Amino acid sequence: MAEPDTRSYTVAQDSSVYYGGGYWNDLPQVAAYIERRATGKPDTDWYTHLKDVTGGRTFRKALFLNCGNGWVERQLLEAGIVEEAVGTDISDELLDQARKAAAVAGLPARYYARDINTADLPEDGYDLVVNFAAAHHIAYLDKVLRRVCEVLPADGVFASVDYVGPHRNQYGYAQWQAAQELVEQLPEAFRSAPNYPHLPTMLAGDPTEAIHSELILDTVRRYFRLEELNPIGGALAYPVLSFNSAVHGTPGPERDAVVEQVLAADEAWTTEDPDRTLFAFFWGHPMKAVLDEQDTLAAWAREEEAREQAAAAAEGRYYPLTVLQQLTQELETLRMHNSHLLADLHRTTDEKAALLDRRVALRPVLVRTLDERAHLAMRLLRGLRRLLGRRR
Ligand SMILES: C[S@@+](CC[C@H](N)C(=O)[O-])C[C@H]1O[C@@H](n2cnc3c(N)ncnc32)[C@H](O)[C@@H]1O
Repeated sequence: MAEPDTRSYTVAQDSSVYYGGGYWNDLPQVAAYIERRATGKPDTDWYTHLKDVTGGRTFRKALFLNCGNGWVERQLLEAGIVEEAVGTDISDELLDQARKAAAVAGLPARYYARDINTADLPEDGYDLVVNFAAAHHIAYLDKVLRRVCEVLPADGVFASVDYVGPHRNQYGYAQWQAAQELVEQLPEAFRSAPNYPHLPTMLAGDPTEAIHSELILDTVRRYFRLEELNPIGGALAYPVLSFNSAVHGTPGPERDAVVEQVLAADEAWTTEDPDRTLFAFFWGHPMKAVLDEQDTLAAWAREEEAREQAAAAAEGRYYPLTVLQQLTQELETLRMHNSHLLADLHRTTDEKAALLDRRVALRPVLVRTLDERAHLAMRLLRGLRRLLGRRR
């Protein structure tokens, strides 16, 4: 008999959730904004920048955590930043795509199916580990980052481009309010108020999404000395531009002006308080000495296990609901109730119409039946009268 699943996390059943369109960075201006804010230079991607700031270093062998369909390592291999790549992911389907694409391009990449939370990292001898949009899907962040610290040599590099904002995109009130106000300032045709992420829907679609994103930076700092940490932003632009069909569906100068307006507001918001950033680029070297601090390591492991066990007992929920989430769920309940009431109303209206139709159809029969009864009654009466007349 299969063991019951006691994990605090489950993974997405449908791996296509990772490559849907309509996100903010599908817009070319946003892609350029992300590059500039990640690297501090225009038109420079994060890996070219990494090479520059590590003294033109080429990495011999790189590990790509939660590599998905492998496009990131293909870019680094093709750019000559990395000589050899190893990717791990839990999705066989995505790994298949990665293997095929690397083979077609003739690139030296190997792939392993791994649950990052439980399995060992494959192979060894890495001088670079890349976290590209991976850590925000990891439940056991401390365990995984500790392994990365172990597997890298002291001069090895851990490089990251990731979402480090609130867990499961449960934004705070001030940020959400600022995003709504920004929408109000846009030309009417592009005004599409974002929906606050509905937690039960997120848990049903991809329970790993942003599972502990707000713990990433603190946990990384336990094991790595960061040489660079650049807040990319996104607190306003990500919710306002992602899935905004008017923006994505209407290319042209007016749309471009709107995107610029949103990005300028996003940059001002992030500059005012860089901790508000949703996305960050950072890189650093492992602090190997921490691996000797047995008591500290044991305490971190206990803390993580307790958190995950508590979540396992609470259907994967970790944190209290934000006020906005409570309101969102109440609104959703009312919406469902409303749609049931509407369905009831439509059914009753249909039944009434059907009954009226039946009454119309039955009327001739009814009239005929009444006529026949009256006729019969008259005959009976006449017969009775005749009988009574004879008696008299
Ligand atoms: C947002 S995608 C990023 C993929 C890739 N790094 C990229 O940028 O295209 C997150 C990835 O994490 C993987 N993932 C989620 N949970 C995982 C787990 N427990 N172990 C390994 N991979 C996991 C998913 O299959 C998915 O490929």
